[in-house]
Amino acid sequence: MFETVASLAERAFRASAKYVFALNQSRLKVVTDPMYEAVAARLLPADTPLSPRLLAQSYDHNLFLEYRTRSRKLEYFIEDFDFSQAKPELLTPRQRQMMHTVALGETSGAAVADGFLRAFRTMPELAAFFGVWFVEELNHFLGYHLYLDRMGERWPAERGLEVAEVDFLPYADDPMEVAACNMYQELLGFLVYRRFASQVKDPFLANMLDRFAKDELRHYKFYQSVVARRIQQDPSFRRVVLKVFLKATSPYNQVSGGVRNVIDHLEAGAFYFRKPEFEYFTKQVEFLLGDPLEQVFANYFRGAIPPCTVCSHEAYQCSCESFDDGEPQPRRKPEWWKHVSPRVNGAPVDMPIEAWANQLRTAARGASPAARPAAAATASA
Ligand SMILES: [Fe+2]
Ligand SMILES: [Fe+2]
Ligand SMILES: [Zn+2]
Repeated sequence: MFETVASLAERAFRASAKYVFALNQSRLKVVTDPMYEAVAARLLPADTPLSPRLLAQSYDHNLFLEYRTRSRKLEYFIEDFDFSQAKPELLTPRQRQMMHTVALGETSGAAVADGFLRAFRTMPELAAFFGVWFVEELNHFLGYHLYLDRMGERWPAERGLEVAEVDFLPYADDPMEVAACNMYQELLGFLVYRRFASQVKDPFLANMLDRFAKDELRHYKFYQSVVARRIQQDPSFRRVVLKVFLKATSPYNQVSGGVRNVIDHLEAGAFYFRKPEFEYFTKQVEFLLGDPLEQVFANYFRGAIPPCTVCSHEAYQCSCESFDDGEPQPRRKPEWWKHVSPRVNGAPVDMPIEAWANQLRTAARGASPAARPAAAATASA
């Protein structure tokens, strides 16, 4: 039994294991969490020394103040971006699909947020960070939907509402475990956005993705410090962190609208997880846990998605500078973002993505007179 569980967790991405994996944040986690905990304990013996780099760090009692100082210097507003410069016609079919996947991740903000704030409400440092984080994430949400609009693939209002309505099951009861989950997803967000940016030929989108990636990196670093400080106080917390990594905790599991969509989105993200990302990832694991667990994570990612069509290596071992071959991602439900469930009472949906997009476009046009003719032309199209 234990071997089955262990190999499932270690091969989380593969074949039938993908389905267990997609459900590991549902109510089924009562069953799966102890399995992940057992695997984490086996992979990380209690006497594993702490990483010397982690031991050498000293962290403030309140990391929010430092974050706030840094963040206010970097503040920006997405409506100041000139979306008339966007050239979605330069995107490959896969990149167009990926835009919907990243938009979904950022659309989940409102659904996941109450669980975060609830967990953090008695910890002023984390609660205060939550406020700034939420505002910063709003740029991503709006930016992606504004870009989808330029692509001519604006979501039906009901689709956005269905994401917002998800009764999101909190990642954990322990606020520090929630912090570890958020750390993990900010790390993945950073890596995937950065790599996605490197593949797109539209300079506007590449620039926007780079900007968002830097935000995610900053979020990651904040949570990483919170988690590392906790590990210094209690090295056994490393097993919780490892569990979170093995589960690949993310909002996608709950907001994608079914297991097949979850897997489609996770595979979409995995496409942008190449050798540099793998190396960065295991370096973070080494810092936090004292062991990079390279073999474990190599097994984990091996076979997750088809090999690179350019170099034939496993995706996570691919060093190609450019690896998008122009083919769409084979998705189980390709048109998922158009699908909406019938509303019970048929009441009109007030989900203002569309209105916001229009108003922000107008505001952006006002801020950038040079953009007027092109923006006006497409706005009436
Ligand atoms: Fe984000
Ligand atoms: Fe973030
Ligand atoms: Zn390659």
